[in-house]
Formats: sequence, structure tokens, C-alpha cells
Amino acid sequence: AGPDALRADLAGRRVVVSAGGTREPLDPVRYLGNRSSGKQGWALARVAAARGADVTLVAANVDLPAPFGVRVVPVGTAEELRAAVLAEAPDADVVVMTAAVADFRPATVAAAKLKKKDDPAEVPEVRLVRNPDVLAELVTKRAAGQLVVGFAAETGDADGDVLAHARAKLARKGCDLLVVNDVSGGGVFGRPDNAAVVLAADGSATQVPHGSKDAVAAAVWQTVLPRLA
Ligand code: CTP
Ligand code: CA
Repeated sequence: AGPDALRADLAGRRVVVSAGGTREPLDPVRYLGNRSSGKQGWALARVAAARGADVTLVAANVDLPAPFGVRVVPVGTAEELRAAVLAEAPDADVVVMTAAVADFRPATVAAAKLKKKDDPAEVPEVRLVRNPDVLAELVTKRAAGQLVVGFAAETGDADGDVLAHARAKLARKGCDLLVVNDVSGGGVFGRPDNAAVVLAADGSATQVPHGSKDAVAAAVWQTVLPRLA
């Protein structure tokens, strides 16, 4: 037990964290995926459990052992993640969506492996359809007093800087907190360290200094704590 264990400030709280990245099948052997390692969500779950919370981690393709004291529900696709998170959410005090949920999935999944044709010009076309927005659904279904926390990786562009995009996303999603990673300078994906800004629906912004994903997790829980009912 590290220093977290001396501080059971999340005791009696039920926490649901989603982590990792969903994979959307194309055929029995292929999928559309993303680079999320699940490390930040894993750290959030680990730190919450160490601070006394009852934690469920809905893990989409996370290649890490279960954190100590955390119940893990493994999922593959966005639809599976949605079902698992919505099943766990009703009695949770906090739901944290760190998972990289695929925005789209192939419209159809081939029953058999896709094969090449003799003519090299003849290539398959993949049609995509939208996946459900789990965070938005959590917000509409949330229980009284429940906190819903989203994550976003943003880059600045011609339409605005990272914070402008993040503020717009927080408003669009309607969640209580949005943890924003600035990924303009290259990947945080798979790296052990991270830095973030936590934006709140009340307009406040808390800068989280660059540090380990555990340190970012602890800072996120510090922001959550005073907002718990
Ligand atoms: N999210 C979700 N369901 C989706 C997509 C995203 O629950 N289908 C959640 C993520 O887990 C994250 C938050 O929404 O907590 C923000 O994800 P992001 O991809 O940044 O938001 P999008 O609305 O998909 O915006 P973008 O078009 O920038 O990808
Ligand atoms: Ca997205």
C-alpha cells in the first residue's frame, strides 16, 4: 500500500471507470481500432480503489492485469462497452469515461474472412455507421447527485485552440467534468506520463501538472471529491 491507502477519502463511494479502446470488427479476423492503451483509466481505477472506493473498470482491450481490489468487466466493441457501462452506472456515485470509444463501426461484419480478388484494382469498400455516444447517454440517464466525467484528447486548429475545443465539447456533452489532454505535440498514447486540464461545467479550470498517469489520476480525484454529494 502506498500513500493513497492512508487516505480513504473515497470510502463508501461506488466508481465506474471505462478504459482502453474499442475494436470494431470487419470480419472474423480484422477490426478497426485505436491506439488507446488504457493506462490512464487503469490508473484512475487503481487510485480510487486504494483510496477506499468500490471500483468497477470496464476495460476495452486493455492488456494490463486487474488493479488491486478492482472488479474488471472486459469488453470489445463500443456496443459492448455501452451495455456494460449502462448496466454498472445506475448506483455509481461517479462514472469516468476514459475509454476511446470508436465513433464509427463497419456497417456490416463479414461472416467469412474477406479475400483478395485476382484483379488488384478490385478492392473492398468499407461503409461505416455511427456508434452510440455513451457519455451523452450517461448524462441523460444520470441519477441524482451522480457525477459524470469525460476525457478528451484535443489539438488546436484553425477553428480554435485546445481549450476552446474542450469548452465546446464539455458544453456539447453536458458532463460535469472534462479532463483534457493536449495532444498537439505528439502522442500521450501508451506513454506512462500525461498532463491535463480539468474543465468543470461551472466554468472552472484546474491545471494538472505534467506527471505520471497515477499523478494525473490523483489530481482528477481531488477535483471530483468536493463535488460529490
Ligand atoms: N465517448 C463516448 N462514446 C462515443 C464517443 C466518445 O462515450 N461514441 C466519450 C469518450 O469516452 C470521452 C468523451 O466522450 O470521455 C469524449 O470523446 P471524444 O472522442 O473526444 O468526443 P467526440 O464527441 O467523439 O468528439 P470528436 O468528434 O472530437 O471525436
Ligand atoms: Ca470521438
